[in-house]
Amino acid sequence: MSKPAVLTLDDKEYVFPTIKGVENEKAVDFRTLRSATGYISYDEGYGNTGSCQSEITYIDGEVGILRYRGIPIEQLADKSSFLESSYMLLYGDLPTQFELDQFTTRVRKGAAVSPMMCDALKGFPRDAPPMGMLGSMLGAMSCYNASMATNDRAVDLEHFDEAAAAAIAQTATAAALGYRVTKGLEGNQPDPSLSFGDNFLHLMFSEEGRPYKAIPEVSRALDLMLLLHADHEQNCSTSTVRMVASGGANLFASVAAGCGALWGPAHGGANMAVIKMLEEIRATGDDGSKFIEEAKSGKSGKRLMGFGHRVYKNFDPRAKIIGKACEELLNKLGIDDPCLDIARHLEQAALADDYFISRNLYPNVDFYSGIVLRALGIPSDMFTVMFAIGRMPGWVANWREIAMNPKMKINRPRQIYQGPALRDYVAMEDRG
Ligand code: CMC
Repeated sequence: MSKPAVLTLDDKEYVFPTIKGVENEKAVDFRTLRSATGYISYDEGYGNTGSCQSEITYIDGEVGILRYRGIPIEQLADKSSFLESSYMLLYGDLPTQFELDQFTTRVRKGAAVSPMMCDALKGFPRDAPPMGMLGSMLGAMSCYNASMATNDRAVDLEHFDEAAAAAIAQTATAAALGYRVTKGLEGNQPDPSLSFGDNFLHLMFSEEGRPYKAIPEVSRALDLMLLLHADHEQNCSTSTVRMVASGGANLFASVAAGCGALWGPAHGGANMAVIKMLEEIRATGDDGSKFIEEAKSGKSGKRLMGFGHRVYKNFDPRAKIIGKACEELLNKLGIDDPCLDIARHLEQAALADDYFISRNLYPNVDFYSGIVLRALGIPSDMFTVMFAIGRMPGWVANWREIAMNPKMKINRPRQIYQGPALRDYVAMEDRG
């Protein structure tokens, strides 16, 4: 037990308990701060705020550690699969063979979306952004899987196994359908005989009389990509899911909100932004050096996309794994991607540059993920959607943690008001 914290405010001392996590992370428990002192804590961007106590994922950003349910990401990347890790994120422990088979069957059975959802997708413009379509479809799942999405917590939890499998599987189905609709193609039906990743590639690319042919290197790389994205503690989208869930909203409504949060370029949208950046650098004939100078000056508003992280102040462990997997995949498939050379040069140059060193800016998961996804044949405007498919188990696990906590309070931050002080309403004719 750590010693309590003593805070002096307006010449008065207040004592607050402290909390220690299993990995020795420490927090001052300020839950009574306002009622005791009249002050609130101010932490814009929440860089110092623990919003919950969670048992799902552990990160030590100073050292570069990521663990799902205690197991290092390196071990999972080497030995586990996306669905096995998903099961563990959802339920807490690695599954037995029977549990994994049962879960896999549930995910496969839950993959088909309602034909009405396919019709709804056809109503989107051909140039609709894939993340906009996916977010809408996740929200719509509340309507098409209504018995699992009642906003009555007890009922929703009773259907959790089915709903979780549907959320994971139907996200992939809806994403692939959305892609095909924008290309003017008919949707494919899920194939329950295929692995999760191969089924997704079949949904995307199979054509009449020309079924998608699985390539083992591609299947393994896609599975790894999804596994590495499966959870990441209280990031922007996951905390959004928890925020929405804390109001009692059903699983699908909560993950739809998370999908919106993921879309931005500072978060999941970075994987698309990295490829755009690499292509732009390539088009100008720069080897990356000019771009680095622009990113450092801050004047152009440019940033070195795929670099930096709110939590990792050391290497993002996912970036190490994905960087290696990227090299291996391209070698195995015999792909010579000029963007990989630019990326390597950018990485080396930035890692030797004082601007990046002094700010602890290292490659993050998105730095190489776009090159991997491109090698898998995924179009670049689908990259953030791929992130969403991978992150779904983490979102669902966090929804469950909220839903199962009987003491959970609605999340409701406060603010410091800096707008006009009290003033009177002015009638239209008297306004200047
Ligand atoms: N390129 C150049 N400068 C940067 C970068 C970058 N990528 N990232 C941070 N900085 C600078 C920033 O200008 C600031 O400099 P100064 O102290 O001189 O004002 C300093 O580093 C701290 O930056 P910050 O914006 O306060 O840091 P943050 O923790 O709020 O932001 C971040 C984290 C990920 C949003 C940011 O590093 C960034 O925009 N990176 C590029 C986008 C990206 O790759 N995002 C994917 C994140 S990993 C996937 C995920 O989990 O979503």
